[in-house]
Amino acid sequence: MLALFISAAFCLLFSNINALTTDLKMPGVLPEADSYLCTSVPLTETENYLTGFEAIAQKGTAHHILLFGCEEPGSEDLVWDCGEMNKRSDELERAPTCANKPAILYAWALDAPSLQLPKDVGFLVGGETPIRHLVMQVHYMHEKTEADETGLRITYTDEPQPKLAATMLLVTGGVLPANKTESFETACVIEEDVEMHPFAFRTHTHRHGFDVSGWLVDEDQQNEDHWSLIGRRDPQLPQMFVPVSNASMVIRQGDMVTARCVMKNNEDRDIGMGATGDDEMCNFYIMYWTEGDVMQDNTCFSPGAPEYRWVSEAALNHIPK
Ligand SMILES: *[C@@H]1O[C@H](CO)[C@@H](O)[C@H](O)[C@H]1NC(C)=O
Ligand SMILES: *[C@@H]1O[C@H](CO)[C@@H](O)[C@H](O)[C@H]1NC(C)=O
Repeated sequence: MLALFISAAFCLLFSNINALTTDLKMPGVLPEADSYLCTSVPLTETENYLTGFEAIAQKGTAHHILLFGCEEPGSEDLVWDCGEMNKRSDELERAPTCANKPAILYAWALDAPSLQLPKDVGFLVGGETPIRHLVMQVHYMHEKTEADETGLRITYTDEPQPKLAATMLLVTGGVLPANKTESFETACVIEEDVEMHPFAFRTHTHRHGFDVSGWLVDEDQQNEDHWSLIGRRDPQLPQMFVPVSNASMVIRQGDMVTARCVMKNNEDRDIGMGATGDDEMCNFYIMYWTEGDVMQDNTCFSPGAPEYRWVSEAALNHIPK
């Protein structure tokens, strides 16, 4: 029998010839209001392809459920506090989601319809891949006094899939000054020999972001840069992956990808980019498939405002409003 996880309580629910499902669930936790809890499972030595995800959540329980692939989880504990936004838990260890090499694989948010991966597309995990553990993060809404088992139903197969899925993260540092609207920008040239077909994107900020967008930029010698939208979304909407603007877009070696988060600060304090709820964050995720290799380096970082701007640092023009 084909197994995805090494141990843990997994149950096979149905199996046709190739596709199996297994549930990754919270082990009966008692969350506090607004808490972020993580649990992890080690993957087997066999390579598997994750091809579908479905939330197992009672209405009104969770703000979001995120699934990460990690080389090592943030903690060895069965459950830990992986909150960035909340006060510390009294009982649980606080640790990041992944100890290293985080890759986001799935995001479900607040009654949003779930994203289906395109046909023949799967995330390659386990075996010798950099994804040796799955970590599920649940952001709970309310305190619960009954053991909670919120989780994800994962469809997988060991049959090689024609197309591999992966995610790329565009992210900035920087400072959002008091009483100011500021734009956080990043841009990177794809140096690896890949051909990415973006099919979904996700935007993430904390409370101050209101317009996050990602673009493919065709740099032109005559100063007529051409900008093609990958996706644009208000990060105050549920932060799941949503379909890209143009599913025919292809991103190749030498292309430039960019992202921008516009944020408004009506507080009388400067707000740095960082991990806690008092900080801000500018994230644009691209989920893509390829027929060849996925990118080894999946992050595009810039120092953000005030140091870094598209105009001065990347010499870009014809920037969309
Ligand atoms: C979508 O992307 C393809 C490939 O880059 C391009 O040829 C096409 O014009 C784009 N369509 C729209 C509506 O932008
Ligand atoms: C921000 O605005 C508040 C209220 O208008 C004002 O009291 C404060 O001095 C401002 N702070 C800065 C740093 O401009």
